[in-house]
Formats: sequence, C-alpha cells, structure tokens
Amino acid sequence: MKILMVCLGNICRSPLAEGILQQKVQEAGLDWTVDSAGTNSYHTGEAPHPLSQKVAKLHGIDISCQRARRFTAADFQHYDMIYALAGDVLREIKHMAGKYFDASKVQLLMDPLHPGQQMDVPDPYYGAEPGYHEVFDMIDAACDQIIQQYAPIQRNQ
Ligand code: 4NP
Repeated sequence: MKILMVCLGNICRSPLAEGILQQKVQEAGLDWTVDSAGTNSYHTGEAPHPLSQKVAKLHGIDISCQRARRFTAADFQHYDMIYALAGDVLREIKHMAGKYFDASKVQLLMDPLHPGQQMDVPDPYYGAEPGYHEVFDMIDAACDQIIQQYAPIQRNQ
C-alpha cells in the first residue's frame, strides 16, 4: 500500500497523519509507504508546525524531519489511496488533479470510521494547543481503522 495524507498547508494535520500512520505501519510489521502533502504552497519546504511536533512527540512520534510539499496530479499515479483531511481539501485535490482524478483512490480521512458523515478533521492552525490534541486523537482513530481495513489484504497476498 502507498498512502498519501493531504491537508491545506501540509504543516499541521497531514504531517500528524503521516507520522501516526507510519508508526502504526511499523508496529504492525507492514511494508507500506506513507507520505503527506498540502494543496497550497504557502509553507512548502517548512517543518511541521511546532504544536504538531509537540503533540506528536508526547505520543512518542518524531515528525521533525518532515518537510511540506505541494500535492500534484502525478500523486494519483504514485499512490494507492489518497486521504483528504477535510472536504475543502478533497475539492481542491479534484480541481488540481484534473484528468488524473480517480474517485476510487480518494476518501475523506474520517470516512472509514464515520461513513457518510462528511466529517472534517478541523484546521487547528489559527487556534491553540488543545485543538492539536483533538486533531491528533481523531487522526489516531482514523489510522487504526485504515490499518484494520488494509492490513489483512497485504497479509493475504
Ligand atoms: P494544515 O493547516 O492544512 O493542517 O497544515 C494549515 C496551515 C497553514 C495554512 C492553512 C492551513 N495556511 O493557509 O497558511
């Protein structure tokens, strides 16, 4: 499995999603690739937001080496699944991908856990630390669900 996590800036939510899923993949002994990107380029090249780094570290996950990059249409060729952290991100992915958009490869991150509810992971960028903890817990639960969904498939191959 090759999985891409996408938010707007690739500095708050999707770096957490990359780090959290990566840790679960390692713990489960799976051979998956996990990456993240943002639909805008305001923070390209930057490390994750200090509060995302702090909250991840409190859970034993080091995301300090990640660097923000912008989502591209070519990501549809490289990844098996692309998870949008929120609905506005999903719409922008569709717009940016153009003819490369493949609806079968894209899903809201919270959808596997809360199907049909169109649930967003809220953007913590303009808020304080508690928002980052809330986001961590949502993403953590979503990533458990992704492991449950796809790990048996890899093990059976
Ligand atoms: P993220 O948060 O999408 O979770 O990385 C944001 C960070 C920066 C901006 C927007 C959202 N921004 O517009 O600069």
